[in-house]
Amino acid sequence: MGTGDAVISVEQLTKSYGRFRALNGLDLQVAPGEVHAFLGPNGAGKSTTIRVLLGLLRADSGSVRVLGGDPWRDVVELHRRIAYVPGEVSLWPGMTGGEAIDLLGSLRGGLDERRRAELVERFELDPTKRGRQYSKGNRQKVAIVAALSSDAELLILDEPTSGLDPLMENVFQEVVVEAKGRGSSVLLSSHILAEVESLADRLSIIRDGRVAETGTLADLRGRTRTTIHAEVVTLPAHASLDALEDVRIDGNRLWATVESSRISAALETLLPLGVTALTVEPPSLESLFLRLYEGEEGER
Ligand SMILES: Nc1ncnc2c1ncn2[C@@H]1O[C@H](COP(=O)(O)OP(=O)(O)OP(=O)(O)O)[C@@H](O)[C@H]1O
Ligand SMILES: [Mg+2]
Repeated sequence: MGTGDAVISVEQLTKSYGRFRALNGLDLQVAPGEVHAFLGPNGAGKSTTIRVLLGLLRADSGSVRVLGGDPWRDVVELHRRIAYVPGEVSLWPGMTGGEAIDLLGSLRGGLDERRRAELVERFELDPTKRGRQYSKGNRQKVAIVAALSSDAELLILDEPTSGLDPLMENVFQEVVVEAKGRGSSVLLSSHILAEVESLADRLSIIRDGRVAETGTLADLRGRTRTTIHAEVVTLPAHASLDALEDVRIDGNRLWATVESSRISAALETLLPLGVTALTVEPPSLESLFLRLYEGEEGER
C-alpha cells in the first residue's frame, strides 16, 4: 500500500517526555476501511501515539498524517472527521449522559438521531442520569454512543471497552462491524484478545516505542510454531524427522513443533510411520501474543 492513500500514516515518529523516549521511530499505516488493532504491553507507547494522532501532543520528529492532514496544524478540521473514545471517560458532572452525547456529537457537525436512539437502547444506557452518577462502564458507553452515532470517517479507540461487561462487549463488537460497513476506518488499541481476534483486519504490535510486528492475525500466526502430537506404528528413526523440531518420543508417541508454514512437510514425514492418532495445534491466541509481546519472535 502506498502511504498516499492511508488514513493514518506515521513514519519514524519520536516523542520524549523529558529525557524519557516514549516513541522511538514508530511506523504505522492504517488503510481506508480497515479495523487496525494496536497492541502491546503496558507502557509501550500506544496512548502516546494516539495522543499525537489527535493533536493533543506534538511529535518531536517524524512524519504524521491523519486523513491527509497534519494532526497538530489541522486540528479543528480533522476533529470534525474523527471520533475518539478513551479508556477512561470523564464526563461533566452536572450534565446528563444524553446532553454529553449531543455535545460530543456537535463537535462533529451533529449526530444521526435514529442511530443515537438505537445505540442508547442497545447499550442499555439511561441517558437521563448525570455525569457524576454513572459507573465506569456507563461512562464508557456514553463516549461509545457519541462516537458511533456520528459518521466519523476515522474512529480512534484507546481501550474503549475497559469496564464493559461481556454482554456490552458483544454489542460493542457488533457496532464496530457496522461502522466498518458504513466505510469508517478504525484504529483500536485493546488488551482484549477476543475483541482483536473478532474485529481486526490487521494489527500492529508495539514494543518500547516502535512497531515490532505488523500484519494480519494469520500472518502473525504463520510466523510462529505449531505443536504436533502423533501416535505412530513404526518407531521413527531420528534421521528421518528433518521437517520437525523439538522432537520428543515416548514409546510410540511423538511430540514436535514445526513452523506453521511447514505443516504439510511435517505430515509427509509422519505418514510413512503409520499414524494412528494426530493433533495439530496452532499456538493459542494468548501464547501467540505473549510471545509477540515479549519479543522472542522479533529476535529470530
Ligand atoms: N505525561 C507523561 N509524562 C512522562 N511519561 C509519560 C507520560 N505519559 C506517558 N509516559 C510514559 O511513556 C510510556 C508510554 O506510555 P503510554 O501511555 O503511551 O503507554 P501505553 O502503550 O498506552 O500503555 P497502556 O497499555 O498501559 O495503556 C510509559 O513508559 C509512560 O510511563
Ligand atoms: Mg494506554
